[in-house]
Parts: sequence; C-alpha cells; structure tokens
Amino acid sequence: MRRIAAGNWKMNGTGAELGEIETLAARNTDSVEVVICPPATLLSRAADIAGPVLVGGQDCHAAESGAHTGDVSATMLKDAGASFVIVGHSERRADHGETDADIAAKAQAGLDAGLNVIICVGETLDEREAGRTLDVVGTQLAGSVPDSAASNTVVIAYEPVWAIGTGKVPSNDEIEEVHGHIRQLLTERFDTGAEMALLYGGSVKPSNAAEIFAVPHVNGALVGGASLKASDFGGIIDAL
Ligand code: G3H
Repeated sequence: MRRIAAGNWKMNGTGAELGEIETLAARNTDSVEVVICPPATLLSRAADIAGPVLVGGQDCHAAESGAHTGDVSATMLKDAGASFVIVGHSERRADHGETDADIAAKAQAGLDAGLNVIICVGETLDEREAGRTLDVVGTQLAGSVPDSAASNTVVIAYEPVWAIGTGKVPSNDEIEEVHGHIRQLLTERFDTGAEMALLYGGSVKPSNAAEIFAVPHVNGALVGGASLKASDFGGIIDAL
C-alpha cells in the first residue's frame, strides 16, 4: 500500500519560502511518498530543489492547451516538474463551482499527462448534520473518479469541509466510517480499488497525525496549514 504525505500550500508562498522545501529535501523519505504542492508560480523552482520530495499542482484544466486565460494544463504541470496534481479540492468546488464531471475530466487530463492524481471528496457541516455524509462522499466519488483510475496513479483524499483550517477533526470512528465506505466503493468499482491510497485531510498536525494514521484505511494525509513549515510537515511525515 502506498503511504503518502502531501502538502497543499494553497495560495501561500513566494520565493522566500522555498527554503522550507530545501529543508524537507534533506530528510530521509525512503518509506513514504512526500509531495509538496506549491502555487503554480513556484512549481518549477520547487522541483529543482526538491530532491526526493515530489512536487505537484493544486489544480489543472481539463484541456491540454487553448484559450483559457489564467488556467494551467496538466501537461504544463508535468513540464514544470510536477508528478502529482490535486483535483476537486473543496475550495475549488466552492470558489469555482467545479462539478463532479468537471473534476473527473481534470483527473483524466492529469492521468493522460502522466501525473499521479489526488481526487478530493468531503461533506460540509450541514451535510454531516443532516446524516448525509456517506451519500455525499459516495456521489462525489462516483462522479469525480474516472473509470481509468488505478491504484498506481490515483489517490483519494477525504477532507470534511468543516475540518479544513478549523482545528476541528472528526473522531477516529468517524474517519474510519468514511474511509471504510470509500474503500468498499472503490473495491466494488475498480480492480485495484483495495490498494488505492486513501488520505485524510483537515487540520492534520504533528500532534494528532499518529492517531489519525492508526485509523484503518488511512494511508496518509493531505495537509494544508501544517505543510507550510518543514518542521511541522516533518513531524507529520515522521508519524506516517
Ligand atoms: O488540502 C488540504 C486541506 O484542505 C487541509 O487543510 O490542513 O489547513 O486543515 P488544513
């Protein structure tokens, strides 16, 4: 089973922060895939200094090229040195109205470009309180993960929207329930579904990472705020 610590810098970081990646690059990452997804403006420079750390994009357009001002294609990410791309992050779903079909097309573009694709799913607080978590996650999974997905190229990240950047984390039982459901759905649909890595994301820190990684079907983390500092992210990598 792959084990992955992925850091999503979101819209944070200028050249001044590249030293954090240099610090990470000096660590031993033999047993874990460590991925940093900086803003697109830093991707190429990050790739140059990342050593064994992999770099990824935070989103891509579904098309390979064309008249899409401001967008970046998966092929461009690959060309800049990326080996991963995140698609379907809840901030993209909310801020840019991305649908499951949009996300499946982006994921396919990432796979076509030869990237590993991290596909994000997760319920809002309202959806959880209405008892709809498993339905919402199942629907997102069905619509966002392309039929061509396989365990050596696709990774699923479960990120409850209400846990992102809030310091709130679901209980271990709640994480296990959702990850177990995702595992079951993937296993039913894909030949390699039982081996597809499942990441948990939402307020992961060095202090809670070991407990989260002990939950069945948690194979790593997608980390936002705590990935900005190599010291914090290093603590999470150590816990994995
Ligand atoms: O992509 C990362 C997630 O949105 C988690 O963010 O660790 O700051 O809660 P966070």
